[in-house]
Amino acid sequence: MSGQRIAVVTGGGSGIGKAASRRFALHGDLVVVADFNEATGRSVVDAIRAEGGHAEFRRVDVAEQASVDALAADVESTVGPVEVLVTSAGILQNATDIASFDLAEHDRVWAINYRGVYLSCRAFGPRMAARGRGSIVNISSTSAVDPMPLLAYGPSKAAVQNLTGALAVELGPDGVRVNAVMPGYVLTEAMQARIDAGKRDARSMAGHSALGRMVAPEDVAQGIFFLCSDAASCITGVVLPVDAGYLPALSYLHHPGLGGVHPRREDRRPVA
Ligand SMILES: NC(=O)c1ccc[n+]([C@@H]2O[C@H](COP(=O)([O-])OP(=O)(O)OC[C@H]3O[C@@H](n4cnc5c(N)ncnc54)[C@H](O)[C@@H]3O)[C@@H](O)[C@H]2O)c1
Repeated sequence: MSGQRIAVVTGGGSGIGKAASRRFALHGDLVVVADFNEATGRSVVDAIRAEGGHAEFRRVDVAEQASVDALAADVESTVGPVEVLVTSAGILQNATDIASFDLAEHDRVWAINYRGVYLSCRAFGPRMAARGRGSIVNISSTSAVDPMPLLAYGPSKAAVQNLTGALAVELGPDGVRVNAVMPGYVLTEAMQARIDAGKRDARSMAGHSALGRMVAPEDVAQGIFFLCSDAASCITGVVLPVDAGYLPALSYLHHPGLGGVHPRREDRRPVA
């Protein structure tokens, strides 16, 4: 891996983005924490600097083209050429059915979770390609492949995966790799808020994985860091699950005719 890289992490002020920012900084990279929330973003920068790392804060709304384009122009002129982009800005949604799902909320999820990723890749990808070097990691979700009553969130993540493959092919000849991570249930600030509000069941989320635990933001950060490292120099267009084995365990649990027996622990059976 080259020396100090410039890494932009959207949504770097919280959760997976915060953990990724700290992971790149630990490696010696200069991290631009780009977030809508200035207070949390700046606190991540302060924490990185207190640990001897290098970080800058930039405010961005990834759903707004002008804001994302301004971020890219500003970072490249005041910080330097960006080599790593992690698009972790995103929002969760609550379970709903199609009849009662507010269309404005549907559109807001898409605006941030898909359009935000698209705009970020659009702003930084061609700049990387022009220099012949770069790595982008988008954040999908197991809900991209495991349909759930998250009627904007899941489809938006499926679209992110499709975009990741397309951009890997488009930008690959110019030395830019584009990959995604597919987290399962990650205990981030956003997830904790939903657990506290009674919208998610922590025990059930942990119990439905092969490893019997939720994913930590740092686990996802390690996957992101790997995909941006020289160890992954021949890997592009992939979606790396970081889900504590949630997807294979789910498949096993629901296999028709086998009685829903968990591979390891009877007490982790789903509660009807
Ligand atoms: N937590 C999970 O279980 C989980 C699982 C799979 C995928 N993901 C995905 O990981 C990503 C990060 O989620 P998280 O759980 O870390 O959430 P989080 O709320 O902890 O962090 C998300 C960050 O994005 C920022 N953000 C939101 N909207 C923005 C906007 N318009 N412009 C700029 N920044 C904005 C927030 O301010 C926040 O700092 C999301 O894309 C989410 O869908 C999360």
